[in-house]
Amino acid sequence: MSANGKKEMKTIGILTSGGDAPGMNAVVRSVTRTALFNGMNVKGIFKGYSGLMNSLMQDMTLRSVSDILQRGGTMLYSARCPEFKDDAGVEIGKQNCLASGIDGLVVCGGDGSFRGARDLSLKGIPCIGVPGTIDNDIASSEYTIGFDTAVRTVVENIDRLRDTSQSHDRCSVVEVMGRHCGDIALHSGICCGAVSVLVPEIEFDIDRDIIQKMKKTMNSGKNHFIVIVAEGVTSVRFGDEPGMSAHQLAKYIEEQTGVESRATVLGHIQRGGTPSPRDRVVASQMGHYAVELLRKGIGNRVVAMKDNHIVDYDILEALEMKKTINMELYRTCNEISI
Ligand code: ADP
Ligand code: F6P
Repeated sequence: MSANGKKEMKTIGILTSGGDAPGMNAVVRSVTRTALFNGMNVKGIFKGYSGLMNSLMQDMTLRSVSDILQRGGTMLYSARCPEFKDDAGVEIGKQNCLASGIDGLVVCGGDGSFRGARDLSLKGIPCIGVPGTIDNDIASSEYTIGFDTAVRTVVENIDRLRDTSQSHDRCSVVEVMGRHCGDIALHSGICCGAVSVLVPEIEFDIDRDIIQKMKKTMNSGKNHFIVIVAEGVTSVRFGDEPGMSAHQLAKYIEEQTGVESRATVLGHIQRGGTPSPRDRVVASQMGHYAVELLRKGIGNRVVAMKDNHIVDYDILEALEMKKTINMELYRTCNEISI
């Protein structure tokens, strides 16, 4: 026991879970080095909760995390593990922690991963969640690791699309990731001067928000266009109608405006690539903070960004929070894309 009566943390585990995000490696490095610096042992668990359930782990040394800071993806691999949603799966995870001497665990991933961390914490293994997903869709944190890099990748690619759209007087419809969250779409919309950005959080009307807007800007001499649509928009149904794919939307725009249109679905390109400086810094800070919590014997918390500072919340409280879109940014985007 430590001085505060909590079980002493001798060994901690680290895993990455859900969709990988650039910067996850920087979290693994930071967690490993902070723990080793403080005389603890570290076990790297491979393939998320699936690896925990199968005891796929290795002891981490200072050198295990060399040369990974600049790499996208995650050296620990990631997985989606439906079995961990069941109590039986969490119980196996707990038993494997006990068997391998893991006293506390850092989980880097999204909301689903935090639910697993909550369930394992409730069984007595203190867990700390670190927000790692390109989607920026975690309500408790103003920022999620990987978002900056993903937006940078989207912007670089849309800049290329603009070159060809401009040369042909075309409209480029670009679908971006984000699951149910429109942050990637909105931020790239601002960066790329999109004439319209459709996000799942805000009601839209294709005729009003795209067609009429394009026609208006054509009257002022504009002849090439970028329309960004979040995947959370193309995947939903409109009443009884199935969602409109980016390709269908491009066809509709061409029919209604006479502007030749092409669709591009950026897809998993958005998940890869070297993490941006911002992602490396935030990942390093959050990983360090997570270990500090465990060192104090504190578990069942998530690390978060609030007002540009690193803070922590109870996982249950964090999972109750509701994510909203930045309406100010949306308004700015709309009012300057005329
Ligand atoms: P992504 O959004 O990329 O899917 P998540 O962090 O939401 O990332 O990861 C989902 C993963 O979290 C699941 O595949 C599963 O392994 C894990 N998980 C554990 N417990 C739960 C739970 N109760 N609900 C949802 N996901 C869970
Ligand atoms: O959560 C990250 C994310 O890339 C989402 O933006 C996207 O909806 C999903 O994962 C794609 O998942 P998969 O890699 O299973 O195709």
